[in-house]
Amino acid sequence: MTRTYKIAVLPGDGTGPEVVAEGLKVLDAAAGKFNFAVEQTRFDWGGNRYLATGSVLPDDAAETLKKFDAVFLGAIGHPNVKPGILEKGILLKLRFDLDQYINLRPVKLYPGVETPLAGKTPADIDYVVVRENTGGIYTGIGGISMKGTKDEVAVQSMVYNRMQVERCIRFAFEQAVKRHSKARPWRGLSEKDIAAGKIGQLTLCGKTNVLTFVFDLWERTFYEVAAEYPEIKTDYCHVDATCMWMVKNPEWFDVIVTCNIFGDIITDLGAMTQGGMGIAAGGNINPEGVSMFEPIGGSAPKYTGLGVINPLAAVSAVAMLLDFIGETRAAEAVEKSVAFVTGKKLKSMAAGKMGYSTREVGDLIVENL
Ligand code: IPM
Ligand code: MN
Repeated sequence: MTRTYKIAVLPGDGTGPEVVAEGLKVLDAAAGKFNFAVEQTRFDWGGNRYLATGSVLPDDAAETLKKFDAVFLGAIGHPNVKPGILEKGILLKLRFDLDQYINLRPVKLYPGVETPLAGKTPADIDYVVVRENTGGIYTGIGGISMKGTKDEVAVQSMVYNRMQVERCIRFAFEQAVKRHSKARPWRGLSEKDIAAGKIGQLTLCGKTNVLTFVFDLWERTFYEVAAEYPEIKTDYCHVDATCMWMVKNPEWFDVIVTCNIFGDIITDLGAMTQGGMGIAAGGNINPEGVSMFEPIGGSAPKYTGLGVINPLAAVSAVAMLLDFIGETRAAEAVEKSVAFVTGKKLKSMAAGKMGYSTREVGDLIVENL
C-alpha cells in the first residue's frame, strides 16, 4: 500500500501563494518518484481573510491542523494590516498552540550562490541553528504603565522554565548526532577530537555575562545534558560574538542552540550569509506533534503577483518537511535538485534577477528530480 500524507497548506499573504505553488509542484513530483501520496487541504488564513471578515484565525485552527501530518506555510504579513496583528495572531499563535517548540533553521550556502562573506565557499557555510520557539521574550509577559507620561515604564520579560530549556537542548544534541557519524564526522573536528570519539559539535549561544539568571539556567542544563552525548563536542559563545564568528568564521559552526529572540536575530544574519531570504527555509517543529515548514523570507508585498520571487526557500522547506515525515530519500533528492539549480541554472537568488520566472524555477527543480 502506498504511504499517504495529509498536508495542510497555508499559502498566506503576498508572494506566499506563488512560492507555495512551486513547493507543491515539487512535493507532487517527489511523491510520484518515490511512491507516496499527498493529500492537500488548503486554508485561506492570512491578511486578505482578516480584512474581509475581521477574523485573524478560526478558534479551532490548531485543533484542525493537529489532524495533519505536517503544515506547509507560505508567508504571513499584509501591507494594509498593522504590523503585529497577523504575525502574533497567526504565526506565533500556531507555534504556541501546536507547541512547536523548536525552530530549525539550516544555514547552508548552496553551490553557485553568491555570499557577501568574502572568500567563503559552500564548504565553509553549512550549519543549523536550533532556535527555542515558544518561550523567552516571546512569552508576552510584561506591560506598560503610565503610558504617555514622562514616567512611563515598559517591561517585557525573558521567561524560561527548566523543561523548555532542556527539551530544546536535547533536540539540538540529537540534531548534532543526526548530522554525522563515526564514518562521517563533522569537518571542523581536529584529529584529537576524532581520536576522542567526537562526531559533531554543539555551540550554546547565550549571554551569560549579562543575562545571569536565564543563561545560568541554559548553561547548567546544557552541560548536564551534554554528559549524555559524549560524542558531541560542546562549545559556548555569547550572542554578540556568535554574530561576529558567523561572519568571520562560519566554518566554526556545526549546530548552534539558542533562545527564541537570539535565534530570531542570528538566523536573519545567517540567511544573508547563505544568499538571502530567497533561499532560506525553516521548520517550526513539535517532535511529538504537528510541524510547520516555511520559507523564512516573509510576504514581500512589492513583488506580489509578478512571478519574479525566488521559490527555492519554499522548495527547501518542502525538503525539510519530507525529511520530517520520514521520506528521507525524497528529501535528499529535492535538496540535490536545489543544489543543481543554484549551481548550474540561476543567475542570482534575488527576486527578478534569477534569469527565470518563479514558475520556471519550480519546473527546473521538477525536471532535475
Ligand atoms: C520569524 C519572524 C517572526 C518571529 C515574526 C514574523 C513574528 O521574524 O519567523 O523569524 O519573530 O519569530
Ligand atoms: Mn525573524
